[in-house]
Formats: sequence, C-alpha cells, structure tokens
Amino acid sequence: RGHTPFSARRNAQPGEKATLGGYYTQDELRDLVAYAKQKHIQIIPEIDLPAHCNAAIAAYPELCCSCVHEHLAVLPGLGGRKAEIILCAGKESTFDFIEGVMDEVMDVFPSEYIHIGGDEADKARWKICPECQKRIADEGLASEEDLQGYFMSRVSDFITSHGRKVIGWDELTNSSFLPEGATIMGWNGDGSAAFKAAACGHDFILTPAKIMYLIRYQGPQWFEPLTYFGNITLKDVYDFDPCEFELWKPEYENQLLGVQASMWTEFCYSTSDVEYQIFPRLCALAEVAWTEPENKNWEDFLSALDAFVPRLEEQGITVAKSMYNIQHTITPLGDGKLLVNLECIRPDMEIMVKVEKSETETIDDILVKKPITQHFVYTEAFVVEKDCTISCETYRDGVQMGKTLVLPIHFNPATGKTITNGGSSLAPVLINGLRGSLKRSDFEWANWNGTKDVEFTVDLERPYRIDAVSLGCISNYGMAVHKPARIEIFASDDNIVYSSLAVRDFSFEEIFREEPTFIEDLLFDFAPLSTRYIKVVAHPYGLCPESHVRPGRPAQLYFDEFVVREAL
Ligand code: ACM
Ligand code: ZN
Repeated sequence: RGHTPFSARRNAQPGEKATLGGYYTQDELRDLVAYAKQKHIQIIPEIDLPAHCNAAIAAYPELCCSCVHEHLAVLPGLGGRKAEIILCAGKESTFDFIEGVMDEVMDVFPSEYIHIGGDEADKARWKICPECQKRIADEGLASEEDLQGYFMSRVSDFITSHGRKVIGWDELTNSSFLPEGATIMGWNGDGSAAFKAAACGHDFILTPAKIMYLIRYQGPQWFEPLTYFGNITLKDVYDFDPCEFELWKPEYENQLLGVQASMWTEFCYSTSDVEYQIFPRLCALAEVAWTEPENKNWEDFLSALDAFVPRLEEQGITVAKSMYNIQHTITPLGDGKLLVNLECIRPDMEIMVKVEKSETETIDDILVKKPITQHFVYTEAFVVEKDCTISCETYRDGVQMGKTLVLPIHFNPATGKTITNGGSSLAPVLINGLRGSLKRSDFEWANWNGTKDVEFTVDLERPYRIDAVSLGCISNYGMAVHKPARIEIFASDDNIVYSSLAVRDFSFEEIFREEPTFIEDLLFDFAPLSTRYIKVVAHPYGLCPESHVRPGRPAQLYFDEFVVREAL
C-alpha cells in the first residue's frame, strides 16, 4: 500500500508505487516458527477470508466478483464501501487460489490451528454478483450470510482434511451453519457473539474489542501516541473476567480455550511502538488467563508489576507508564460552575493540584468549595467558576511518577451552563471551558455519526447581550470526519419562539479538504442582541462521495467548545 497511515489514508492512484509493507519469504517464516518454538510459542497464522484480503485482490483482481470495475488498491483498515470488495464466493477459481495458499501456509506453519478470519465481510457485491447468486441458487442457500457459511465451511473442510483445526471470528455465527468443529473468537464489542457458538458446542476464545484490543489508547489520550479510538486501561484488561458474562455457563469452562489480546499495527512504525502498546497490558492479560479470579488483587498486581517492569526494561523492551497519568473529567454544573474530577488508575498515587489564577481574579474567586487552597492534595472533585489553569501530577514518596496534566479553563457566558445533548452523550463538553486536542477521541469532543440534522440548545440561565458565537470543529479526511454542509444559529428568550441569528454554508471543497487532521473555530457574528437560549442546528453533508477514501460512509461531525461572546 502507499505510505498512508490509518488516520491519513487517501486513495492510492493507479500506478502509484506501494511504499509501505512487504513480505516474508517462506524461509524467513520457517526461521520465525523455529525461533518461537525455542521459546515454547506456537505461531498460528491467520489468512483472513473472504474480506480483509485487499492485497491479494489488488494483485489478482480476477478473484473478486465480476461486478467490481473500480481501481483496486490497498488501504489500511476498511474504507466505507471499499469494504464491499471481497473474494467472490461464486467462482471456483477463488477456492483453487485459497487451497493453493493454504497448502503453502500449512507447509510453513506446523500449528495445530489455522485461523481463516471471516470478519467484516460486507455482502453488497455478493448480492449483485451473478456467480455468487448462482452459487446461492445451486447450493439452496437462504441468504448471503449463508453463502459466507458455505464459503468458510468449504475452506474449513479443506484445512481439517489436512489434520488441522480451524479458528474463525465471531461473524461466522451470523450464518445458519458454522464450520464443523471451528473454534470461534469473540471480538465484536464485548465478544459475546462467541457464546452463540459455545451454545452449539463449539470451542471459543475471547478477545473483546472493548477490552482486549491493545491498539486502543491505554491511558489519558493527551499523553499517548496517536492510535485507535477508545481507552482500555491496564486496569480494564486486568478486571476482565469471562465468567461475568450474562451468557456464561459453567459447562463452557472446557470450551473456553482462553483469552487473547489483539494488537493491530496500523499506527505503529517500529518494534518499540508495538511494545509500548502491549506492555504492561500483556502482563494484565496473563493474570486474566492464568490466575484464579479469587486470587486476583489489583494492588498486589501493581506491586508485582513494579518489580517486573525493570526486568522487561533490562531486556530492552519499551514499557508504557500510562498507568501513572491522570484522566480529567470537567462537567458543567448548570449554574455556571464546573466540577473538576481527576483519576489515576493506581490507588497508590497521590495527586497534587495547583490552580493558577488569571491576573484579575483572586484565588477565592476561582475555587468555590472552601477550604481548598491554591496548591493541594486531591481528595475529591472540586469546583471552579473563573478562568484558571489547573496543573496536576501524581507522586509516590515525594517522587513525581506521571506526566504533568495542564488544564487551561476559559469561561464564557455558556460555560458551566446547561445544554441539550442532541443525541450525543458527550455534548456537555461543548460548554466545559476546556478545548479538545487533535485527538478527537480524547473525550473533549462531542460527536454525531449519522446523516440526520444535529440540534442542541444552550441555556445561559439569564439573558446576555451577545454579538457572536463560535463552534470548534475538527476534520480528519481519512476517518471521514468533516464539517457539516450548513450550520444555523438561533436565539430565543423563552425556549419556544426562536429567531435566526446566523447561517453558514460550507462548500464541497471546504468540507472534503484532503488533510489528515485540523481544527477550525467556526465563527458566527451578528448585530448585538439580548438572548437567554441559543440553538445550534448542523446539517451533516450526508454520505461521503465516490471520490472519497470512505465512499458511502456518513460524514461524521465532531464539535468542541461552544463559545458565546458578550457584546462590549
Ligand atoms: C477484527 O478486528 N476485524 C477482527
Ligand atoms: Zn461473486
């Protein structure tokens, strides 16, 4: 694929040289297998079918459905409707190809299991492909999902006929028949789809994306290298217990083969980047897998880890220290004040807080709840009501352990007031006095993913004379995060009758600027007026165009601070 990391991906042009990626020779792989064996590790290869095999399809376009006519290129991850381009299940030549690949794979990897994927196979092309439809008719299948069941079972039978066992992702349970004897990996959301397979007597493995995907952030995002959205802390991994699933039954004890951490490397550029993501969370995974739940104890684990991390580092392994950092949550209280909550997943950390006032305020103006002083040990959430900069750090035995978290808080007439959420639970961050970063999943951005209009109203609690509002907006082409097509601002004194204050339309070129990530403050100014309620209506562009890297995916909206300017 071209040199486009996940978050900056764009369409590769016909003829563009692939600059990223490569291949292993069979001899290199045999070396790797032998090396792992010395360490008592068995490598299980995954050949993902019938989707996520873009590279094979780009090289052999005849392997996809004959209704696919567009230029085939390799993208990191899935790209909107491009995810529809998968192996054709109707052509016999697809199976000839797969059997050839599997023969070679089984020759190189002596593993007991071969993973054949099965995840995220969009069936849109299968629905219109004459060969796929003929297969459905000939085999008497009920649906395209069952066509995948046929596909996976056929590959599975080939592999089991060679004396190996098969693993597949939990989408295999969407078909009315699972490949015989296949072990299912539960990954979607909490991984619970694997229990459907368990109920049919299949073995299973749990690697829930919500808890076990180590590509995700492991701590407060402002301190982390750019990676995939969502936070999974060391403690989240440690606390995972498969027996706590509602669907768990004691008889599954022998079917649950284990838990798995999944690490995808789209955001990694070196071995050290990968190590940073997996250590120390891999240590927590080991506890989940090998420690009886009644013997698990978070504090004991941390002290064992404190002894173990230096051993990892002595071996040259990069270990993340994210567990020492502080996660903030700043919540508007409705009366113009903000509640500041600070958390560190390590209970043995002392959080020191320093509140610096702006020139014009006294510290008593800023800190509402007495007797908090300017510099204090954090014991509980505290309240601020004026501009200030909050700095906080974790300490143990007088030594600073985590990074310094700096929260610059700026008040305007909307800050700390109330907001209707317009369908996004994060909407209150729009009026919490703190700006979001270039990481749009840092919990400081409110987002909307659909094509419907977005509407939210801020109640200033009393009339203010104002002459402008602004709305922070982040764009990220590769992830289909874009400005809306139109934003309208309305004012009201009674929250019943609204009048239009301002409107802005954005052109196609403005919306779909091909840049990785940028933040703009969209300004709306108008003749001064007095108002108590301000309503924002944003019309999303809708589906990304054909020329986009994610054609057909709804352009997402991400807004951050809503600022109201008082007229002078
Ligand atoms: C997966 O993450 N698509 C299995
Ligand atoms: Zn087809």
